Formats: sequence, C-alpha cells, structure tokens
Amino acid sequence: MGSPALVIPGDLVAALRAARDVAVLTGAGVSAESGVPTFRDAQQGLWAQFDPRELATPAAFARNPKRVWDWYAMRREMVARVAPNPAHFALAELERRVPAFLLATQNVDGLHQRAGSVRVVELHGNITRVRCADEGTVVAQWCEPADALPPRCPACGAFLRPDVVWFEEMLPADALAAAEDAARRCEVLIVAGTSAEVYPAAALPAQAQRAGALVVEVNPNETPLSADADHVLRGPAGVVLPALVAAAFPR
Ligand code: OAD
Repeated sequence: MGSPALVIPGDLVAALRAARDVAVLTGAGVSAESGVPTFRDAQQGLWAQFDPRELATPAAFARNPKRVWDWYAMRREMVARVAPNPAHFALAELERRVPAFLLATQNVDGLHQRAGSVRVVELHGNITRVRCADEGTVVAQWCEPADALPPRCPACGAFLRPDVVWFEEMLPADALAAAEDAARRCEVLIVAGTSAEVYPAAALPAQAQRAGALVVEVNPNETPLSADADHVLRGPAGVVLPALVAAAFPR
C-alpha cells in the first residue's frame, strides 16, 4: 500500500490565505531531506564513543577545547556540503506572501537563510558562525588553527567557539523574546519538523494557541503536540510545506 494522499483542509488554506501575521517554528526534520545529520546521527566513527555532554557543553569546552572545536568543524563541513530542500524554499516563499512573518528555528545549519528566508530567529544559534568564548563577539574572519587548539579571538585572545547553544546553556534572550512575541501575535503558527519536546521552544505552540492562533503541525510522526494542534499534516516537510503554500498562494 502507498502512503495516504496528502489533503490540505480547505479551512486551513482559507485561514493561511487570510492571515496577516504568520509564524513558523522549525526543527531538525525540516533539514532531514537536505541530508543534514542530527546531532546523534553525526556521531559516527571516532565520535561515536563520546557522550553528547563531552561534545556540546561549556564544561566539555573548558576541559577539551580542541575536541569540541573539531566536532563542530566536522559538522560545519557537513552543512557546507548540503543544500536547502523544497521545505526551506516553501517557507521563504510563504514569507514573501504574508505581511507580517517570523520564522523561529531550532536548526543551526543556516539553510533557511540560504533558501531566501529573511525574517529568521535562530533559537539555538548557527554552526557556521564563530564567537569569542569570553566576550561573545561574533568574529567574521577566522582561520582554522594550524596548531592543536581552537583559534583565538583577535580582540582579546580567548578561544573562539561555535555560535551555538550548548546543553546547559540559555537560549539567546533576544531570539527567544522575538519568537514568543511572534507566537502571541500570529494568526497561524506552523510547527514543522520538530519533536516539540525541547523547551523553551516547545512551549511556543501552546502560547500561540492560547493567544488565539491556529496551530498546524507538519511532521511524518506523532509528537506531543499532535493531540493539541488544530491541524496535523502528516508527511515529510519537503512535500507538505510546498503543497500547503501552493494551495494558499497559487502562482
Ligand atoms: P528532533 O531530532 O528532536 O526531532 C526531529 C523531528 O523531525 C521528529 O519529530 C521527526 O518525526 C521529524 N521529522 C523527521 N523527518 C522529517 C521530515 N522529512 N519532515 C518533517 N519532519 C520530519 O529535532 P528538534 O525538534 O529540532 O537542541 O530538536 C530540538 C533540539 O533538540 C535541537 O535543536 C537540539 C536537540 O537537543 C540543541 O542542540 C540545543
């Protein structure tokens, strides 16, 4: 038996078409069809022996900065080799079609921006950026170290680190505030490719719904959000999101 045909409900199409303010929350599933490995999937070979806490915590970086740097350098190279997929492009198109829009992503791969999304907040940072571990300043120009250590901040000499949120760290306050504001303000919130389990991002759908938004889940699998979402579109984001955007905004 093939998979069931995708049906986009008419009332959802009408709501999206009429909405003046749309927000989107994305997670790893949106990049799955680009071939971006999840944190755990990337733990192949040499890296399989490590607990994630040895690769992505402030304590791990303090103990072994080279190991953490090398892990992120490897993942940065993986991300550089992949391309945005139809899910990313559909969300960029949606942004062009609605007056007020915000895309909050938990992904660190920068694929939304590469697909043309502009109004993006990165809740967990971006693996392609590097910042000073002490001052937090993002450093635009840096070289891979020739020796055994991560490169140093040109301004203060501290180690540079990936500009991502590690386990045990807070989300960037401005990004979270912008996402919460969008959730409270929007008329439709699309939640795509996220397990909806990792807080505080996982709280955004309930915040939006309490404020009166229609919440739409796009995911091939059931999540804790599925029971509460107003619409659940089961299927891969690379199929569902282009279909949803094309139904609401035919070219
Ligand atoms: P998860 O890996 O927890 O969940 C990925 C979700 O994507 C699952 O619900 C899958 O069913 C779904 N999925 C898989 N393939 C899909 C596809 N083709 N289209 C749509 N959905 C698909 O990823 P996140 O929810 O992003 O945090 O996890 C959130 C955070 O947890 C991550 O950012 C990371 C992790 O700990 C940090 O690194 C701080």
